Amino acid sequence: MIEQDYIHHGDTVAFMQTLPDGCADLILADPPYNLNKEFEKHRDFDEWYQWSKTWLTEACRLLSKNGNIFVYAIHHYACYLQCFLYECGLVYRRQIIWNYENGWSRYKNAPSCHYEPILWFARSNNSTYHIIRESYKSTERLKHKITKNGKVWTPNPEGRQAGDVWEFPTLAGKRFAAERTKHPTQKPLALTDRIINHFSNPGDLVYVPFVGSGTECVSAVLNGRRYLGAEMNEDYIAIATGRLQQLRSCELQHRGSLPFGAVASRR
Ligand SMILES: C[S@@+](CC[C@H](N)C(=O)[O-])C[C@H]1O[C@@H](n2cnc3c(N)ncnc32)[C@H](O)[C@@H]1O
Repeated sequence: MIEQDYIHHGDTVAFMQTLPDGCADLILADPPYNLNKEFEKHRDFDEWYQWSKTWLTEACRLLSKNGNIFVYAIHHYACYLQCFLYECGLVYRRQIIWNYENGWSRYKNAPSCHYEPILWFARSNNSTYHIIRESYKSTERLKHKITKNGKVWTPNPEGRQAGDVWEFPTLAGKRFAAERTKHPTQKPLALTDRIINHFSNPGDLVYVPFVGSGTECVSAVLNGRRYLGAEMNEDYIAIATGRLQQLRSCELQHRGSLPFGAVASRR
């Protein structure tokens, strides 16, 4: 039995090497992008790419038969990671475009950046997927009967099927102050919930190679999944642990009046 709901303090590759083949149903990786950030110095490209191949090789080994791997990437380098995932023998499922208009980037010599690619690969085309639905764009269209090829089309009460461009704001600005921690590249819970809810099953194990402030672990708990992850930086582990503890005290407070899963109503 492997440990669950646990964050390892140390190197993710060394930690993954201690885990058995096929143990992770979903791998949600938000790796260093090789930029100059508080937690990483820009490295020579070859060095960064060799390191990326090392952790991706281990991650692929951990992926279960019906499992999915999501890798956040930056447009400069996403193609290298994508090619390597093919080399690992995984099946390409989709490149998700995470679109936002409230990002931090401003350039004088190029347009502002309004998206990040997220690579979705799996062991097979039959990997876990629960249809994502969102509101219909036009309510006008829903008022009139629509006939296509002689058949009457009725709207799905849960909304239309979502596409592969996902609009979620980043955590920039005052309105996200309550969610934001001191981690410089914290991902939004709403986006993370979508991945965890629709690409894994309740009770599944989510492996988080780069825990940071713990967003993916928090989302796993909120959505009834188990998590396991690694983080090198002690301060970030403290942030992640604090968020998880807050959740647990919330659960204890509400036990008996509100099912814990009900908190996870974001999609
Ligand atoms: C992009 S951040 C993850 C942010 C996370 N998604 C969140 O929402 O907070 C990447 C994290 O990986 C950690 N990291 C970098 N190299 C690592 C390694 N070899 N092993 C474990 N953690 C590492 C960094 O300290 C950083 O916190």
